[in-house]
Amino acid sequence: MKILVIGSGGREHALAWKLKKSPRAERIFCAPGNAGTAEIGENVAIPVSDLAALASFARENRIDLTVVGPDDPLAGGIVDLFVTQGLRVFGPSKTAARIESSKICAKELMRKQRIPTAQAGTFERSDDALRFCDQLGFPIVIKADGLALGKGVIIAPDLESARSAIDEMMNQGRFGEAGRRVVVEEFLRGTECSLHALVDGKNYRLLESARDHKRAFDGDVGPNTGGMGAFSPANNWNNKLQSQFEEKIMRPVLHGLLAEGITFRGLLYPGLMITDDGVRVLEFNCRFGDPETQAILPRMKSDLLPLLEATIGGKIGDYSIEWDQRPAVTVVLASGGYPNKYEKAKIISGLDEAAKLESVQIFHAGTSRVRDETVTAGGRVLAVTALGSTVEAARERAYDAVSRIHFENCHYRRDIALTAVTDNIEKLP
Ligand code: AMP
Ligand code: GLY
Repeated sequence: MKILVIGSGGREHALAWKLKKSPRAERIFCAPGNAGTAEIGENVAIPVSDLAALASFARENRIDLTVVGPDDPLAGGIVDLFVTQGLRVFGPSKTAARIESSKICAKELMRKQRIPTAQAGTFERSDDALRFCDQLGFPIVIKADGLALGKGVIIAPDLESARSAIDEMMNQGRFGEAGRRVVVEEFLRGTECSLHALVDGKNYRLLESARDHKRAFDGDVGPNTGGMGAFSPANNWNNKLQSQFEEKIMRPVLHGLLAEGITFRGLLYPGLMITDDGVRVLEFNCRFGDPETQAILPRMKSDLLPLLEATIGGKIGDYSIEWDQRPAVTVVLASGGYPNKYEKAKIISGLDEAAKLESVQIFHAGTSRVRDETVTAGGRVLAVTALGSTVEAARERAYDAVSRIHFENCHYRRDIALTAVTDNIEKLP
């Protein structure tokens, strides 16, 4: 089989790496890919935004399966385009992807199905939004309706900051059309957890739980990033929470989608907050998480390819997924300054030495090949994953690998998965 992975991050390298292990995978293409995907397949210089060129490439090269990594092409209708051209593709249709690309749609679905989530209002006028903030109290969460590169969520500690966030989004067009409408919601306290489900329209199979670290610096401070590291399984998850999640969230969301005539086929990733009152949905994503995927896939023993095919074919219910019981820890190496301004084109050394370590896998994110060197080409540069008999062992191994990799102004957090070593799981609700 010829497989095309769309995207260029650590998530896409992990997907390509895992798919390559399938006995049925012959050739892997990645558009546009990075220096890591070039080592396991062939990079194709088409940006993820050029949907027509991606479809032409898939047709001309007789690609048997395309796997879409990022949310933007999904929201732009890449799956619909591929399907009308007779191409097999993994991911939700444009309408199904609305569950991520419109927070208002997601909230409406949750309200109708009584899915536990933060109490919220949706607004088209800034004065109405502001009045609602005043009623609900502070801190309060203000979310742009549409996709805003992960920056569309503002936590406002008081009325003054709520006023300026709402004004920037709704009146000054900070996120363009994406911010013209907003969701204003209750601030939830608790710990976050990422769940991933392969959804075939009617049935689903859960992947192992994970947690990511969104803030730039140790101790969860500094600006929000795409994710500075992850670990799997999540230390704040257990069977009791999982039953509650399946009963109160997964089944109702699938029921709600079908009731609206929407067939969701792809990866549904609900971002959850575990509160004292149980599991609450923060958001729905319609694609694999980054960097969660880099921690989850190395633990998957089953072949990913038939699972993706079964998801597209409406047969995921016939499959079970086998897992390596060892925990995985993923540390992201970023360019100094990320998520704000940073420099590129720094030479990366030590990759081969780090990759030789046992149970270590290095996924590339923002990297490219220039002459004979691998150089930095993005904010998040690498994701280093290690498996270990305990989370402590996995951490040690991951940081051992990280210590062998060098590039100028490299920044990484030293406390990835530390909570899983120190926190007591017995304290869970
Ligand atoms: P989202 O894109 O909706 O996942 O929001 C991004 C991040 O904002 C989440 O991962 C949380 O850390 C935070 N967040 C979103 N909604 C809430 C909420 N209602 N209460 C507290 N934190 C939130
Ligand atoms: N890890 C957060 C995300 O992929 O949205």
